[in-house]
Formats: sequence, C-alpha cells, structure tokens
Amino acid sequence: MANFETVTVKSDLLLVGGGMAGCGAAVEAAHWAKKNNLSVAWVDKAAVDRSGAVAMGLSAINQYVGLAEGDNTISEYVNYVRNDLMGVTREDLVASIARHVDSSVHLFEKWGLPIWKAEGGGYVHEGRWQLMINGESYKVIVAEAAKNALGIDNIYERVFIVGPMMNGDRCIGAYGFSVREEKFYVFLAKSIMLALGGAVHVFKPRSSGEGLGRAWYPPWNSGSSTYFTLQAGAELTCQEVRFIPVRFKDAYGPVGAWFLLFKSRATNGLGENYMITRKDELQNWLPYGSVKPVPANLRNWLMMLDVMEGKGPIFMRTEEAIQNIANEYKDDKKAYKKKMKELESEAWEDFLDMTISQAILWAASNVAPEEKASEIAAAEPYFIGSHSGASGAWVSGPADLQSDESNSEYHWGYTNMSTTKGLFCAGDASGASSHKFSSGSHAEGRVAAKAAVKFAIDNNDEPVADDAEIEKLKAMVLAPLDVFTELSGKTTDPHINPEYIRPKMFMFRLQKIMDEYAGGVSAQFTTSTGLLNKGLELLGVLKEDAEHIAAEDLHELMRAWENIHRMWQAEAHVRTILFREETRWPGYYFRSDMPKMKEDWKVFANCKYNPADGEWEMIKRPIYEIF
Ligand code: FAD
Ligand code: ADX
Repeated sequence: MANFETVTVKSDLLLVGGGMAGCGAAVEAAHWAKKNNLSVAWVDKAAVDRSGAVAMGLSAINQYVGLAEGDNTISEYVNYVRNDLMGVTREDLVASIARHVDSSVHLFEKWGLPIWKAEGGGYVHEGRWQLMINGESYKVIVAEAAKNALGIDNIYERVFIVGPMMNGDRCIGAYGFSVREEKFYVFLAKSIMLALGGAVHVFKPRSSGEGLGRAWYPPWNSGSSTYFTLQAGAELTCQEVRFIPVRFKDAYGPVGAWFLLFKSRATNGLGENYMITRKDELQNWLPYGSVKPVPANLRNWLMMLDVMEGKGPIFMRTEEAIQNIANEYKDDKKAYKKKMKELESEAWEDFLDMTISQAILWAASNVAPEEKASEIAAAEPYFIGSHSGASGAWVSGPADLQSDESNSEYHWGYTNMSTTKGLFCAGDASGASSHKFSSGSHAEGRVAAKAAVKFAIDNNDEPVADDAEIEKLKAMVLAPLDVFTELSGKTTDPHINPEYIRPKMFMFRLQKIMDEYAGGVSAQFTTSTGLLNKGLELLGVLKEDAEHIAAEDLHELMRAWENIHRMWQAEAHVRTILFREETRWPGYYFRSDMPKMKEDWKVFANCKYNPADGEWEMIKRPIYEIF
C-alpha cells in the first residue's frame, strides 16, 4: 500500500474551500474566532490567490442591490430571482444574502478593487443589479484580505479534500491528501463550513481536439461540494437545476455586458431576432413567460428553437451595438472617434478581465467587434448554485426571515447549516439561492461562518476520530495509486490495460453517458424517462469501474477523485430529473415525455443519500412565498 504520512490538524472551526464563499467565511470567522478565542483552519486544493471560478478575474459584480443608495429593495431582488428560476427558490436564503451583499462589495472596494465610477458619482451599472469592475485581480485582492485576517499558519493550500469525517450523524471534519507531498490529511473540528464550488465536465463539453477541456465554468470545480454533502448524509436540493450559459462560441466569453451594457441584439442566420419572432412561445410558460427580464432559461429556449430548425448561426450583433452607441456622437467627429475607441477597448477588456481565451480567439480569427458580429451558442450544462442554476445543499434559513408557514420547513437552527449537524454550506455548495454570483457567495460565506462559529461555541465537545476509520479512509483514498503500481506492468503501454481505467478515460465515459442520456449538447438538451433510466444503468456500471481507477502519481490521484466526485454529481442529477415529472426549465433541459410545466410540481425536488445502506431518498419540499 502507498506509504503516506498521516497529518492530523485540529481546530475549532474548519473552512473547506478557498473560493469566493471561502474568502468571505475566512474574513468573518477570523473576526468572531478572535473574540471568542477559537482556532480556525482553512484548506483548499489550490493556492487561494488564484483558485476557483474567479481565478482569471471577472469583469462585473453581478449582485449589488444598492440598499443604501435606495436603488432597490430586498423584496425586489427576491422577486427577480423567483421569476428567473421559474418560481423555484428559497426566498429566505435569497433575502439573507441580498441584505448583506452590498457590504461585501464595499469591502472589496476598500481592499482595492477598482469599481467603475460614473461621471456624476456612484457606480457604473452593467444592468440593474450588476456593477462594472476592472476585475483581473479580483480574486487576488479578496484572497489577500482573507489570508491576512486568518494568518498564513492556519492555511493549508494544495490539499485536495475527498470527503467528510463523521461521528454518527455529526460532521467533525474532512479528509484528503496533499497534491504535492506524500501526505494524507485528516482535519478535525467542532464545525465545518464547506464551499468547494460547483461542477464542470460532468457533461461532454462542446470543446474538442485542440480546444479540449475549455469550458465556461472552471474545470477544477469538479462536484466536490456535492460528493462531500452526499457522503455526510445531508439533504440536497435542486440537483436537476443545471445551468446552460449562452456564451460566445468556442471560447465561452460572457454575454452579460453585451446584452445589458451595450444593449446588443442576438440574431439568427436569417437576421431575425428570436426574442421577437418567438415571442408567442413565452405564453406556454406563464406566469414566468411574461416577466421582465425574461428568465434566462426561456431566453435560451427561444434561441434553441431557432437552432433546432436550422436557422443558425446565432450572432451577437457587436458591430451594430457599438455603432448604435457611437451614433449618439455622430454630429461631433472628434467625440465620435473618441467614443468608438472607448467602446472598442471596453469590448476587449470585458474578455481580458475574465475570459482571456475569448480575446485570443478574436485576435486569432480576425474579429474586430466594431466591424463583425460574433457567434454565440448554448454551452454544455454546469452545476452552479451561485449563478442561474440552483443545485446545492438544503440549508437552514435565518429565523427572522421566515413566515409562519415556512418556519417549520426552512429553519432548523443555525443559518446555512445543512441537515447534517455541524456542516455549513455556502456559494455553489448551498442550493435554491441562485443569483448570488461572486459578491453574494462572499456574503453568504460570511453569514455561514458566523453561524458556524456560534455552533462551535454551543457544541464545544472535542471531535474524536476512530483510528481504524482513518486507516480505512486512507486506504480508500490512495487505492488508485496501488492499482497502478500493482497492475501497470501487465501491459507494455500503461495507458492500455484491461485491469484498470485511467481518470481521463473514466471522465470521457461519464461525459458520453451524460451527453447522450441526460440531455447534453448532442441531444439538444432533451431527455426522457427511457433515456434517464438507461443512463442510470450505465452510471451504475461506471460506479463499479470506479473501484478500478488507476493513478500514476499525485496529480493523477487528484484527477481520479475529481472524476469520482463528478460521477456522484451526475447520479444526483439524473435521479432528480427523473423524480420531477414535468419540464420547468426549457432551455436548461427539456423532458420530451413530460413537455409541460405542472402546477403540482411547483415544489423543491430534494434528494439524500444514505451512506450506511447505499440507498437514495427523493423528497418533495414545499415552496413558500415569503416576500
Ligand atoms: P469558487 O469561487 O469556485 O471556489 C471554490 C473553491 O473550492 C476553489 O478555491 C477551489 O480550488 C476549491 N476546491 C474545489 N474542489 C476542491 C477539493 N476537492 N478540495 C479542496 N478545494 C477544492 N460572478 C460575478 O459576480 N460577476 C461575473 O461577472 C461573473 N462571471 C463569471 C464568469 C465566469 C467565467 C465564471 C466561471 C464565473 C463567473 N461568476 C461571476 C460567478 C462567480 O465566480 C461564482 O458565483 C463564485 O465564484 C462562487 O463562489 P464559490 O466559493 O462557491 O466557488
Ligand atoms: S457571467 O457570470 O459570465 O458574467 P453573464 O455575462 O451571462 O454571466 O451575465 C451577467 C449578468 O447579466 C447576470 O446577472 C445575468 O443574469 C445577466 N444577463 C445576461 N444576459 C441577460 C439578458 N439578456 N437579460 C437580462 N439579464 C441578462
């Protein structure tokens, strides 16, 4: 057996994941821990300066409510999110984030993040809720503040977390391994705040060949939040609510700035605007078909109908949008020229801030956005509870944001605690609270960490782990290395061996199953009971083969576990789509045998895995309108 040292780290509070939610949690936890003389440990598989979805930077802060400015109210934000998610949202959680998010944004600015300012003062808005930033160093700035608050000695970088340490029904920590040294890690704590991001590459991406692996969401977010919470026996919600972003084709550049700031249109190959020609289709999805803005999945759906009828390609009309804005200056030649230059540089900066590859693709394919339209397309599905998807753990909401009705269903103790005692979740890891984005994830991390500190104070018994259990987990985690050492000599090429499967091939198989049976790109995002059942059967076979994954080195060991995590994310997804007997989010997925939205399915579809007997439980939970 691989002979790794076992390192045990004990603290009062453990923060798992150093993305936006993790950074928010670190700042808040440091404050409350100091006051209460508690210790905090923080772990991430990468270096938090450039980890997670914000690693490359961002060009906008997508959630800013503007409460102090009197721009909007919390209930208006809740209303926006409810409509965008076709009625399925936890209003208490959305409001909990909305009331704190502005203060996170103000902290970012204080820490040095440049936010665009309007000439007359105030922030430059991309849209009603979005602010423009110079965000290429966004993550570095936010991580620096978190690291300073917590102290470098309490931070464990480049440690991949595999799963939860449990003591009965209470989560008491996490286990994993260093991706640089031969060390197996056991973290033990009184409360745990989990924020391991969403999941990418569960479905086959559009990118292939020379672009293989390119995705919109970061490929290193691989479903670890889902695996961790499932193995901790926590209830999950909205596992069917994947997100399909429409993005600039092939390099996945964002569209928000174009649609909102530049007021661009998208048109099909015939020059038609599907938002106008397909308007009647929205009547089939009332009441959400009539709200403004049109929900993201319905915007997708209208575009997809054009694509399915062969009316592509779909173009973002960048040249037209730039011209329209510049035309306002056409009477003054000098001002016009200056405006054109400004618009050009804003267009490039939008990508250089967060999706550099799109700028490279523009350069490589001779695109000048002021002259030529660019193709956009629906990307493969992602699991991202912080954006326009909703998957994540089912967590307790704040007591003061409940109605009489919701109190018994949505509130069971500490804010943001999952149904597993001591395990708190935020960001992509917590579900049914979409549209929190980077800023809201940070704010939610703060809320969750504060509650987790309180839990650690109220439940301050020392976490004790069983040595035999630790040895068992260690053997399980390192098994892929043993498989490789033992069996790789059986063939002349270690990549071709009937005794094992390597992580990359495992991932390809998973992606093919999900693409063809669970409604990926090649199935036009369409699935059915028959397809889902067949997919589940094939996932079962894949699960058997997961015991035969081989890893040549530490890096491949990480790949092995990333793909096992993805596989569990896939299973939760397929089971939940099957459970929900309707189509509620056309444009995200279409259930061909149940093509309509049904009133009796205006509920949350939740799921839970029981690690003791390997059984899944599917649960319906009511939706309460609180605002
Ligand atoms: P992340 O920030 O992704 O953090 C997850 C962390 O978990 C990472 O540090 C990762 O290294 C770590 N991790 C994962 N697995 C493991 C493991 N097994 N063990 C240890 N550590 C692990 N939001 C905006 O506000 N404005 C925008 O313009 C915007 N644009 C976006 C554009 C793109 C291309 C992307 C990808 C996202 C965008 N978002 C935007 C959304 C925003 O980035 C997310 O909402 C936010 O980062 C979610 O925070 P999180 O903490 O849940 O996850
Ligand atoms: S990003 O995360 O990569 O920046 P994107 O660019 O699509 O996402 O969107 C940024 C913000 O604009 C999100 O809040 C999204 O919901 C919103 N948005 C994008 N396109 C539209 C549109 N056509 N109408 C209304 N809101 C939009």
